Formats: sequence, C-alpha cells, structure tokens
Amino acid sequence: MKKATSLSELGFDADGPSFFRQVSLSDDCNGRTPRRRLIKVSVIGAGNVGMAIAQTILTQDLADEIVLVDAVADKVRGEMLDLQHAAAFLPRVRIVSGTGIELTGGSDLVIVTAGARQIPGETRLNLLQRNVALFRKIVPPAAEASPESILLIVSNPVDVLTYVAWKLSGFPASRVIGSGTNLDSSRFRFLLAEHLEVNAQDVQAYMVGEHGDSSVALFSSISVGGMPVLSHLQRNHRSAVTKKVFDGEALEGIRRAVVGSAYEVIQLKGYTSWAIGYSVANLAWSLLRDQRRIHPVSVLAKGLVLGVPPDRELFLSLPARLGRAGVLGVAAELVLTEEENKRLRQSADTLWGYCQALAL
Ligand SMILES: NC(=O)c1ccc[n+]([C@@H]2O[C@H](COP(=O)([O-])OP(=O)(O)OC[C@H]3O[C@@H](n4cnc5c(N)ncnc54)[C@H](O)[C@@H]3O)[C@@H](O)[C@H]2O)c1
Repeated sequence: MKKATSLSELGFDADGPSFFRQVSLSDDCNGRTPRRRLIKVSVIGAGNVGMAIAQTILTQDLADEIVLVDAVADKVRGEMLDLQHAAAFLPRVRIVSGTGIELTGGSDLVIVTAGARQIPGETRLNLLQRNVALFRKIVPPAAEASPESILLIVSNPVDVLTYVAWKLSGFPASRVIGSGTNLDSSRFRFLLAEHLEVNAQDVQAYMVGEHGDSSVALFSSISVGGMPVLSHLQRNHRSAVTKKVFDGEALEGIRRAVVGSAYEVIQLKGYTSWAIGYSVANLAWSLLRDQRRIHPVSVLAKGLVLGVPPDRELFLSLPARLGRAGVLGVAAELVLTEEENKRLRQSADTLWGYCQALAL
C-alpha cells in the first residue's frame, strides 16, 4: 500500500487555484511583510525519552517546527506520523523526521537524547564509552547546522556527555546545558510534597552535583512558603515505620530513595520517560521563552565548587538562571552545610575523573 504523509504524495496536484483568495501580506506602510520568527526545536534520538520530550513540547505550544532525528528510519517516520495524526487536537506545528542531522539546520534548541539506554542495574557512568563514540557522530554536524542554537543534553551519563558536547561543539559554555538534576530535584520535591501535603510546585528543594548516584540533596535550604522545612521536620516528625527522628541517617535514606527511584522505574517498566519529558520541556520553556527561571542543570562549574581546584573544567548541576541566550548565571553562593559541601566536592571529583579519562 502507498505510504503518504500528504495528498501530493498520493498524486494530487497542489498547483491548482488556491482554496482561499490570496491577501497581500505586505500590509504595513513600508511594504514590509510582518512575520514572527518561527521557533525550531530538534530532538536527536526518538526513543522513549526523545518522544516523551517531543510530545510534551508539542502539547505546550513551545515550537513552530519540531524535527525528530533517529538512526532507525522506519521508527522515526512512524513516530512522526503518529504525532502528525494528532494535528486536529493540537496547536499547528510542522513535524519533520529523518535520519540526517542536516534536517536540524537552523534550530533554536537542539535536544540530544540519542544513546544507549541504561540496562537494569547498570550505572549511568558505565554507559559513557558507548555514548561518547555516538556523540562524535552527532554533535559536530549538529553544531555546524545550527551555530546559534542552544544544545540541551539528556543522554546519560548526562554531566560527562554535556562536557563532551561542549568540547565537540566549540560552543560557549552558556549554550551547552545538561538536563542534570532538574529531574532528580523534581523527584525530591514530589517526595517532600507528599509528606507535607502541599503542591510540589511550592516546594523549593534542590538536588545538585551529579545526575546519578552521587547527587547531593540540599536539605538545609528546603523551604515551603518561605518557611524552612528541615528544622520543622527535625523538631516535629518521626518516621512512621522506624519511629526515628529526621537525623543524618534518615536524610540519607531520603536522598537514596530519590536516587533509587530512577532505578525502580527502570526495573518496573524498562525505561523512564514521562518525568524526563516534562522536566526537559520545562527547561525548553525557560530557555525559549526567556523565563529567567532557576533550574538545577548541568553547567560548566569551573571555579564554582568550594575546595575543587579552580581550573577544573567539569559540568555538574547547580541552580542556574536560564533564558533565551542559554545559561545567564549560576548560583555561586550556595549556603551548604559542611556535609553537603563535602558531598558536592566528591560529586565533582567523580565527574572530573571521567572527564579527564576522555582526554578531549
Ligand atoms: N538525563 C536524564 O535525566 C535522563 C532520564 C532518562 C533517560 N536518560 C537517557 O536518555 C537516553 C535515551 O533513553 P531512551 O530510554 O530514550 O533510550 P532508547 O533506546 O529508547 O532511545 C535512544 C534512541 O537513540 C537512537 N539513536 C542511536 N544512535 C543514534 C544516532 N547516531 N543518531 C540518532 N539517533 C540515534 C536509537 O535509535 C533510539 O531510538 C539514555 O542515554 C538514557 O540513559 C536521561
């Protein structure tokens, strides 16, 4: 059976008289045609994560054109058609797909999710070598095709691959961002919100450092409605199960639960997709709409972690101000407890070890 995405592919001529009578577009007094600049977002890697991101961006009316690129031609075409068939229910967006990076040319935002996926039990850092080889094929042509774009890296291990993308693209660090602990922080906020019976959007709580096993939960700065949360928990709450107060061990238990929740989802359904889809669409919103919102994302943290030699070029998550130009600023004066700072330093050391081993 003939496959078609348009009537012209079925042989219907589009050259006949227009359905609507043409109106002059040059209606300002200088004869210029008023046009809004269209926003183009490309997603490289149309797997579970890439498609969750694409569909969330689509429903949030963030882009005028979405390009899906994947190494598997049939799959990416299938994904494109499936989304196109929802056109009657969505804002008008041009959706394009294919296997060539050149399709992404002129993008405002290029999101990279291509990569080998974590298999149950595998740490994110184990994925590294497989994904670096892939990035060598993807990042240089993507950067060349969209030299003004912002690169948003999602593939794991995201902090190291963001460093790799920065090196391979030649872009300024302000335009290379890793989705980092934006998702971990959302998981953290969800757990706290459930416990405090409030909306997770009202919980100010950050996970920083590595997106992964060594991520750091900033318990000391959690607040809700402007009120500090940790001192309240320590004074008034006990674990319903162990009857223990919120001591260091209990807090570490919460941090581990946040980190472990990704592994649990992978164990149960084979991959994670919805939360990362919303997390990345939220970042896209802040970037493309110049929202200047603060997100914990993976940024060049050179000289920003107390106790880490200031010449180390490593990417890890810190609260950063995001806008149309990319990273507009990074929180350099986090108030951390000694323990939190020690953990952040350890996170930085772990990541630095991997970046150095790559010798890029
Ligand atoms: N940063 C985060 O918070 C976070 C969360 C979840 C998953 N991830 C990561 O996202 C990545 C994707 O996960 P997934 O579940 O979607 O995996 P997946 O296997 O479903 O999708 C990966 C896609 O990449 C494609 N691909 C491979 N090589 C390519 C190439 N050269 N060019 C274009 N496409 C190519 C594959 O065909 C596949 O469709 C993984 O690295 C995963 O660990 C990150």
